[in-house]
Amino acid sequence: MTSPLLTPYTSGTLRLGNRIVMAPMTRLRADEDGVPLPFAADYYARRAGAGLIVTEGVWPVFAGQSLWRQPGLATEAQVAGWRRVTTAVHAAGGVIFAQLMHGGRHAHPLARIDGGRPTAPSAVPLPGLQHTRAGKRAPAVPRAMTARDIADTVEGYARAARNAVRAGFDGVELHGANSYLIHQFLADGTNLRTDAYGGDVSGRIRFAREAVEAVADAVGPHRTAIRLSPGNPQSGMAEADPGPVYRALATALAPLGLAYAHLSQASDYPALAELRPLLRGTTVIGNVGENRAPTDRAAGEAVLRAGTADLVSYGRAFLSNPDLPRRLAADLPLAAPDTAHLYTHGPEGYTVLTGRPAEDGVRVTVPAA
Ligand SMILES: Cc1cc2nc3c(=O)[nH]c(=O)nc-3n(C[C@H](O)[C@H](O)[C@H](O)COP(=O)(O)O)c2cc1C
Repeated sequence: MTSPLLTPYTSGTLRLGNRIVMAPMTRLRADEDGVPLPFAADYYARRAGAGLIVTEGVWPVFAGQSLWRQPGLATEAQVAGWRRVTTAVHAAGGVIFAQLMHGGRHAHPLARIDGGRPTAPSAVPLPGLQHTRAGKRAPAVPRAMTARDIADTVEGYARAARNAVRAGFDGVELHGANSYLIHQFLADGTNLRTDAYGGDVSGRIRFAREAVEAVADAVGPHRTAIRLSPGNPQSGMAEADPGPVYRALATALAPLGLAYAHLSQASDYPALAELRPLLRGTTVIGNVGENRAPTDRAAGEAVLRAGTADLVSYGRAFLSNPDLPRRLAADLPLAAPDTAHLYTHGPEGYTVLTGRPAEDGVRVTVPAA
């Protein structure tokens, strides 16, 4: 019997060959100016068998850079670097969205090209040590964003979305999940504001709503998507009661005609079951692996069979299995992720995969730079 993961999916302008989405994964393989290197085109094109690829988190503005060697979509060189990627993915028959990720309090002067101090909804630092280009460092206390900072950031998302379309992307996904800036506004642990961008539920969803609306105005709602992970405790996030906030946000987003909403079931809060009915008419991508074991074929099929999402995203399974859809279709074993090379900057574990089962026949080579 054909797996439901392998059936095509069409909605609005999305025309996908199957329901398997490559989840966004930060890999830190850009150059020191945040420009994707040529081997990124190879990395992504090899995964074009996914119905949809979502790129690693990409910073929309310099202040949004969280990590050294993370790519951006703010400069012409970055647009040109990404154009190589989208051209290769499209030539291989794939569809690709860029994930726009502003780190907010994740930024550290030693992790950012511009060396700036992080900005966030409130001056609440990240717990623990931060990864910088000079090794692990104490976190920098973020400066609470002013109304001007907020307006500039919203405009920055829209500008990056226009850059993404110029770079050939099929659309953009705003990163509203996993502890980054939009999530910091949604969560009561990191948003202590008493102005229009904090306080009650309508205040806390305001930044997310304005960012999505600005991007949808800039590039069209059919090219605009958002990722959310209600209640995800990663990186010291705290949400006392995610339900009211995310229900209000889903209700506000539903009429916009977005390309999709990417929901991570990352805590005890039943994000997919609760929010899917409120997002009527919007394609839903479900992710069920965050803070759990890597998503496998059975877990993905269970989501589709339950009807709580239209598509399922796979992260770790794609790392060492560029041909994941083919492997799931044939029920072949999956190679384990190479966790030693997740964030190292070279080809090993990225385009050069070792220790693969011989029948793959894939030892990916790096094209000349
Ligand atoms: C190496 C790595 C990097 C990641 N980077 C991002 C990221 O940039 N943006 C994001 O939204 N999620 C990121 N994630 C989370 C994945 O998108 C995904 O939600 C998670 O791995 C759970 O799915 P899985 O069980 O299929 O791996 C990352 C995960 C991994 C393993």
